[in-house]
Amino acid sequence: MSAPAPTRRLFIKTYGCQMNVYDSERMADVLSPLGYGLTDDPQTADLVVLNTCHIREKATEKVYSELGKIREMKEARIAEGSTMTIAVAGCVAQAEGEEIMRRQPAVDLVVGPQAYHQLPELIARAHRARGERLAADFSPEAKFDALAAARRPTGVTAFLTVQEGCDKFCSFCVVPYTRGAEWSRPAQAIEAEARGLAEQGVREVTLLGQNVNAYAGPGIKEGGGLAALVRRLARIPGLDRIRYTTSHPRDMDAALIAAHAEIPELMPYLHLPVQSGSDKVLKAMNRAHTAESYLRLIERIRAARPDIAISGDFIVGFPGERDADFEATLSLIREIGYAAAFSFKYSRRPGTPAAAMPGQVAEEVKDERLHRLQALIEDQQTAFNAAQAGRRLDVLFEKPGRNPGQLIGRSPYLQSVHVTAPDRLLGQIVPVRIESAARNSLAGALELEPA
Ligand code: SAH
Ligand code: SF4
Ligand code: F3S
Repeated sequence: MSAPAPTRRLFIKTYGCQMNVYDSERMADVLSPLGYGLTDDPQTADLVVLNTCHIREKATEKVYSELGKIREMKEARIAEGSTMTIAVAGCVAQAEGEEIMRRQPAVDLVVGPQAYHQLPELIARAHRARGERLAADFSPEAKFDALAAARRPTGVTAFLTVQEGCDKFCSFCVVPYTRGAEWSRPAQAIEAEARGLAEQGVREVTLLGQNVNAYAGPGIKEGGGLAALVRRLARIPGLDRIRYTTSHPRDMDAALIAAHAEIPELMPYLHLPVQSGSDKVLKAMNRAHTAESYLRLIERIRAARPDIAISGDFIVGFPGERDADFEATLSLIREIGYAAAFSFKYSRRPGTPAAAMPGQVAEEVKDERLHRLQALIEDQQTAFNAAQAGRRLDVLFEKPGRNPGQLIGRSPYLQSVHVTAPDRLLGQIVPVRIESAARNSLAGALELEPA
């Protein structure tokens, strides 16, 4: 299906996780037949979509302050005799639909993550009756059926959502409320989308899901799960690299661990959040694993794939976290040795069980703990990168570098690698000798000038 030449301008701002990045691309796809083409200037946009995140208080507040700015732009447009449609999508839309319209009446429509396929209709309706609130029902299947077909990737790497939602109910987290119950897309639909991507030059896909390793889609043999899906996708010609994120330790089964040993297309990188190293805190978080069981799990994964890079997420200052609990987290980190990690101060989210727990931790204590934890992670990340110096790594070149004649690519371990290389190597996987390492990137030289 070819879209008409754009006659209207669409500005999308994306907050939060990769699922939102994927969804924003799908929203642009579904709106292009209506004549909407992307712009990066909100002032001149006919339609502004904020694809929002609810995970921490700061993320939510950012949306309201951005809406204040967008409202001024809309008023300026109205003063010129034109107008602008403002849509709020994503997890804040799902969680606070009515409140958004109340706090910012300039918003024309609110649309939850399961209803993006209805966007064209919703926008048409909003044009007729401004200020209408739109139902955000949970029916992910319809969403994906309608959205996947029109996909036009722009690079050599792409996200591919295979699973949505969460049933884990960690006591601090809003995701089970904003994204609904765990749901897996049928394997056939995923395979068709992946083939389409590969045919358009995509070499690497990252399979996405809030609990991607709980994948249990129809069309996958009983008990096959994510491992079987990866095996199936690895057979697609041209698709040379497969990654997945985010995983829960609870769903890291033997088949998936074995897949890391057996499937060369499955990249040696695993994001496996542990959140804390204190069993008392983990229990209060409802994480269903202990520090010890996590350590044993990482041991099994490393036995299968010794060079695998491990990354994680950490929360500091969860209610009831004492100094000794925090020290247990640091000692777990020391024992694991992370290649990278995200860490956050606990943010109290209304409606989650932890928000009502006693022992809320003072802000200064959270600051201090975060600072110490991040310093340790930075050291580990620097050490992990430094250990690559002198090695030969396969690099997938993704884009031109800042300096002329330079390309930027990714190592199997997701490190960004800067190399002097000709443009024709874009989209190719090429051996690179790593010469130096910094905290956030590597620099290398082509192993041999390819013909
Ligand atoms: N499904 C994934 C990621 C969920 S959100 C998982 O289970 O790991 C990403 C990260 O945000 C979480 O891993 C957690 O570290 C952090 N997070 C979630 N809720 C939070 C809260 N209330 N305060 C601070 N960090 C939070
Ligand atoms: Fe949130 Fe826990 Fe679900 Fe991850 S597993 S999305 S942290 S409830
Ligand atoms: Fe945020 Fe929703 Fe993702 S709350 S982290 S955008 S699932």
